[in-house]
Amino acid sequence: MAPSSIFLMVLVSLLILCATTIESKQATAYFPRSAAYSSQEQAAKTLKHTKIPYKTNYFPQILDHFTFLPESSKIFYQKYLINSKYWHKGAPIFVYTGNEGDIEWFANNTGFMLDIAPKFHALLVFIEHRYYGKSKPFGEDSYKSAKTLGYLTSQQALADYALLIRSLKQNLSSEASPVVVFGGSYGGMLAAWFRLKYPHIAIGALASSAPILQFDNITPWSSFYDAVSQDYKDVSLSCYEVIKGSWDELFSLSTNATSLPQLSKTFKTCKNLESVYTVRNWLMSAFIYTAMVNYPTAANFMKPLPAYPVKEMCRIIDGFPAGTPKLLRTFAAASLYYNYSRTEKCFDIGSSHTDTHGLHGWDWQACTEMVMPMTCSNESMFPPFSFSYKEFEEDCLKNYGVKPRSHWITTEFGGSRIDQVLKRFASNIIFSNGMQDPWSRGSVLRNISESVVALVTKKGAHHLDFRSATKEDPEWVTMQRKQEVQIIQKWIEQYHRDISSDADSEI
Ligand SMILES: *[C@@H]1O[C@H](CO)[C@@H](O)[C@H](O)[C@H]1NC(C)=O
Ligand SMILES: *[C@@H]1O[C@H](CO)[C@@H](O)[C@H](O)[C@H]1NC(C)=O
Ligand SMILES: *[C@@H]1O[C@H](CO)[C@@H](O)[C@H](O)[C@H]1NC(C)=O
Ligand SMILES: *[C@@H]1O[C@H](CO)[C@@H](O)[C@H](O)[C@H]1NC(C)=O
Ligand SMILES: *[C@@H]1O[C@H](CO)[C@@H](O)[C@H](O)[C@H]1NC(C)=O
Ligand SMILES: *[C@@H]1O[C@H](CO)[C@@H](O)[C@H](O)[C@H]1NC(C)=O
Repeated sequence: MAPSSIFLMVLVSLLILCATTIESKQATAYFPRSAAYSSQEQAAKTLKHTKIPYKTNYFPQILDHFTFLPESSKIFYQKYLINSKYWHKGAPIFVYTGNEGDIEWFANNTGFMLDIAPKFHALLVFIEHRYYGKSKPFGEDSYKSAKTLGYLTSQQALADYALLIRSLKQNLSSEASPVVVFGGSYGGMLAAWFRLKYPHIAIGALASSAPILQFDNITPWSSFYDAVSQDYKDVSLSCYEVIKGSWDELFSLSTNATSLPQLSKTFKTCKNLESVYTVRNWLMSAFIYTAMVNYPTAANFMKPLPAYPVKEMCRIIDGFPAGTPKLLRTFAAASLYYNYSRTEKCFDIGSSHTDTHGLHGWDWQACTEMVMPMTCSNESMFPPFSFSYKEFEEDCLKNYGVKPRSHWITTEFGGSRIDQVLKRFASNIIFSNGMQDPWSRGSVLRNISESVVALVTKKGAHHLDFRSATKEDPEWVTMQRKQEVQIIQKWIEQYHRDISSDADSEI
């Protein structure tokens, strides 16, 4: 395959950053996104009448909030979900600022909001991010070219949320309801930024696993992969060493003509492998996503997995007799991730069964604003890899006809010296994180002020706090959620105090 098509494949399948060959270009964020969603969507479709406790609405949204060009006032329909079971007029409105995917999937994995709604008599609203799910401004043509994709930016998305929330409050005749925004991952970045940009619309934000500092040089570029590796190292040093050593075994195969068909057989691939790099990507994804969702209870976020799946993977790796090839062990471990359901007949490694344009929404975002440089240091368990802005730009130009504005996000939203800046200017933001989540390193992990706080758990993973409470939940996540509720309660009380003291002073 030509390098350019590999780049496409690489972006599409969320892969890869670390490697020594030119074939692998640094790509994009390992946020849980489209490729993973599509399997979720398929699963959801096969379950005929999936009941979610939300009503679906569509809001006529403006295409371009920031110009008055003729095209700008085109309307598209933005999907949002609403649950008013616990709400009464004047009570709070909790809004989830949707991220890069189908909003139902996020609603389904943010049971926390449903859990706390009765306590607050809150109205729950989940707004889909433009260009994802059913909210595509140009329908099937939305991903066609830079001309249609150009309206896909985080600022447009935030403005969408602002407009929709105002309209909703007006329609409900509940203008005085305090709004709190919630978001996880990229949605958490949006929630935090929403509070900073639209403080007159949201009184506070709970931003879970939101890596707003994964830009420029704010966070060391190697931190993500180092953190993944640390998760495995913490469980078992030998497990980490086997994974680290497996890449040489894999790459040494590529020089031998008979090895790919053999590897295809060993890895039970559905189609014959064309490159060992697809195997590398497949293995890496398994280790990375498993670290992200290293939850203390069995869960089905990306895929069904047991409690503490990193430990389970290492148990598999360490369980083989001495002398077993490392690659066989890592394959067995990756099979836990891909086949815990025990339903896979073969593994779909390296096939690009994605949209023919290869222009998934996040890939566009990664090639425009969301430039998060990442490298693999030689301390990580992955093949070393470096990042070059110049190469990244060339690839984006070649594949999407667009030049990244690599420093726009920090220009628009800030990021460097965040403590000093937010301490003087911001309020009412919770940054929640679990240190098992590799994204936590790019998030806010320190308390900045009285009301811009970091709630960190050592053993939490990617927005664990947003999941529905279960009986098996360990004490520390229950405590984290409890603290979040207390803080939100405080914001709401403060809001009501402010309103009534305003009313007093007007008399
Ligand atoms: C939502 O979760 C339920 C189980 O709680 C599941 O059956 C359904 O497939 C999920 N829907 C989506 C869209 O993920
Ligand atoms: C509010 O009502 C108007 C008029 O019926 C409608 O167009 C709009 O979509 C509604 N807003 C929301 C957020 O549903
Ligand atoms: C390829 O390598 C295998 C061992 O990994 C060896 O048995 C085989 O003879 C090699 N084939 C060629 C064509 O070099
Ligand atoms: C998935 O697991 C089942 C049950 O253990 C097994 O029969 C099947 O071969 C596995 N699939 C693959 C591709 O390894
Ligand atoms: C790791 O990388 C650093 C800097 O790139 C280099 O100086 C060092 O020798 C490397 N260590 C190993 C064990 O390769
Ligand atoms: C931030 O402050 C809260 C109390 O408001 C505390 O519980 C929490 O542990 C602090 N976070 C950090 C990272 O120190």
